Amino acid sequence: MKYKLIATTTFGIEAICKRELISLGFEIISTENGKVTFYADEVGIVKANLWLRTADRVLLVMDEFTAYTFDELFDKVNNIDWGSLIPKDGNFIVNGKSVKSKLFSIRDCQSIIKKSISKKLMDKYEISWLEETGALYSVLFSILKDVVTITVDTSGLGLHKRGYRVKTVTAPMKETLAASLVLLSYWSKDRILYDPFCGSGTIPIEAAMIGRNIAPGLNRDFAAKSWDIIDPQIWKDEAKKAYQAIDLDTKIQIFASDIDEENLEAAKENAIEAGVDDCIDFSLSDFKDVKYENNYGVLICNPPYGERLEDEKAVQKLYGDMGKVFIKLDTWSKYVITSYVNFEGYFRKKSDRQRKLYNGRIETRYYQYYGPRPPLKE
Ligand SMILES: C[S@@+](CC[C@H](N)C(=O)[O-])C[C@H]1O[C@@H](n2cnc3c(N)ncnc32)[C@H](O)[C@@H]1O
Repeated sequence: MKYKLIATTTFGIEAICKRELISLGFEIISTENGKVTFYADEVGIVKANLWLRTADRVLLVMDEFTAYTFDELFDKVNNIDWGSLIPKDGNFIVNGKSVKSKLFSIRDCQSIIKKSISKKLMDKYEISWLEETGALYSVLFSILKDVVTITVDTSGLGLHKRGYRVKTVTAPMKETLAASLVLLSYWSKDRILYDPFCGSGTIPIEAAMIGRNIAPGLNRDFAAKSWDIIDPQIWKDEAKKAYQAIDLDTKIQIFASDIDEENLEAAKENAIEAGVDDCIDFSLSDFKDVKYENNYGVLICNPPYGERLEDEKAVQKLYGDMGKVFIKLDTWSKYVITSYVNFEGYFRKKSDRQRKLYNGRIETRYYQYYGPRPPLKE
């Protein structure tokens, strides 16, 4: 069957997520703030969950309609064929949000939608009581200017939870953001990558997984895995294909360092868990002492911002030092993400391009300094 799905993303990531969806072969319907809408069948639902590196979740769209009153909301939710998705024992919860709409009480919307779905299911299964002991169906409503979108979450835990983060540090980056930074850069698996502020290793690990073509969802579960509409064989087949697609032949050269021993240990353990420790050369070092030996490398880093880890004076000095060290890497492409507004001033170089991204709730800029194209290999 053909379904309409939404891949949700954080702000600024939509275009890169769309690119991922297109390369996975999906038909895109639209790209809006924080979401890319596309069509997929049952296999596609599995593939999207297994392969998307930059999306937060994959939601199944049940319906979209306008509603100005609670009666309208009840009736239109009741019109949806819930029995085709939720079985007799299905456990369903309802959550959502409302922005600039007549129906603004989340709690009331929640209880009306729950009642409406319950009635529909009780009528269909001819029962007067729903046990809700079975698989989880997390229903999400989003009301924007009176337009209600009703979806069900196919992912379960957010897709950033790849299952490899066994050790964490003070300010780790979400895996989906780290993957986005790599995909937004000029790095490809035949080039050197360096992260001299690696912390728990999220950027180098995500890059290694991209280089090895490891599906980010291979090591985790998804809500839709226990749904009746998807034959369990599809999950097995797609996981098998994903294992077969792993590129173990290409030599991946990623370097990662950090000044903090504990963080570096966390990074190493996470890399082992992700199965990419053979791609990453870890070392304990101040970024100033690193020997950036190769030409045409790509440097991607997430240094301290001052907000969370250091005081302002210290980051000003840090960014100044980064400017002095990085300027010597004239054949490299350099990428820095920070929330510090005057980063370029202290770094002493204007970026070729900057992009607004969110690291959790923090508004940041991704400063991009493009190096020359590497010469073609003989
Ligand atoms: C914001 S965290 C990086 C988090 C990382 N992206 C992750 O996902 O875990 C910044 C890191 O820079 C490291 N750091 C701070 N000053 C440094 C320096 N002078 N040289 C190298 N690393 C440094 C800190 O130890 C910290 O791990």
